[in-house]
Amino acid sequence: MKSFNLPKSVKIVEVGPRDGLQNEKDLVPLEVKVDLVNRLSKAGFQNIEAAAFVSPKWTPQMANSEELMDRINRKPNTVYSALTPNMQGYERAVKSRASEIVIFTAATQAFAQKNINCSIEESIQRYIPVAKAAKRDGLKLRGSISCALGCPYQGPVSSQEVVTVVKQMIDLGCDEIDIADTIGVGTASQVQEVFEDIFSFAQPTMFSGHFHDTYGQSLANIFAALQTGVAIFHSSVAGLGGCPYAKGATGNVATEDVLYLLEGLGIHTGINLQDVVDIGDFISTAIGKPNGSRVGRALLAKR
Ligand code: HMG
Ligand code: MG
Repeated sequence: MKSFNLPKSVKIVEVGPRDGLQNEKDLVPLEVKVDLVNRLSKAGFQNIEAAAFVSPKWTPQMANSEELMDRINRKPNTVYSALTPNMQGYERAVKSRASEIVIFTAATQAFAQKNINCSIEESIQRYIPVAKAAKRDGLKLRGSISCALGCPYQGPVSSQEVVTVVKQMIDLGCDEIDIADTIGVGTASQVQEVFEDIFSFAQPTMFSGHFHDTYGQSLANIFAALQTGVAIFHSSVAGLGGCPYAKGATGNVATEDVLYLLEGLGIHTGINLQDVVDIGDFISTAIGKPNGSRVGRALLAKR
């Protein structure tokens, strides 16, 4: 791959325990969630999105985030991230010793209203004290921007709408910012356009691609993003997941599939693909769902 200037290594943020499981209708037993996070820690993921301190009325599956954070075996250098929609969530995250606070809004007003019950501007105002507290307490701060490539309510989304929110997230002091394709409709050229527009004023190193795979475009979109300099990607083991406030949206791109792509490109992740295939098999069996990773299914069939 001489013609592309690709990063030499990539950080994978494993979001299966949070984004992956939040949409499950039946309550996933706590011990299964704990086991999942522990297996992921053992596999060497640097960053695991483990919990969401959101309103339990809005996302019941995440209601036991305190118990989960209390029971997991933490590895010293692993970052355990938690979604925090407001100060109430922040207090819960701190008590649970989350190592990274994730504030989240959207590129569209319609999705912000549906997901966090306020406008984009109101969410930014709400995050000012959260961001200040995270800085004061020495915690990492990440900002996530939903519907950056399309919205189930508004339809198409312009890169200028994304850029506006990126600038607000930078002003809040975010260390990392996620460009999220919540409903998995984005295409490779759109991905390049949005990242190129962002990188005209911001450093590529602080941005990640968070792609759901609804239209099967995630791997192409990751490849497109890699070429712009993005070196952080979110994925879910076995392709678990979806957002309860984005009807029809399927899971994140499967971690196994991303690892296979990156290995083929000679890009280092520090994660062993076969270990993740095992974890994908474990969690799919535990929740009684077909394994959503094509690489996972192919490698399991060969065993
Ligand atoms: P609201 O109803 O406007 O909030 O919800 P409120 O302040 O009026 O509070 C209502 C009730 O919720 C009160 O309880 C509060 O105490 C409680 P009551 O007095 O009625 O008994 N409450 C809380 N409880 C525990 N922890 C909290 C909390 N906050 C309020 N932190 C709110 C506003 C933002 C809280 C709500 O809309 C919410 O929790 N939204 C989150 C929905 C969600 O979980 N979505 C999925 C995650 S985002 C995602 O998946 C996208 C992402 O993956 C990127 C992508 O793919 O796009 C990140
Ligand atoms: Mg998501």
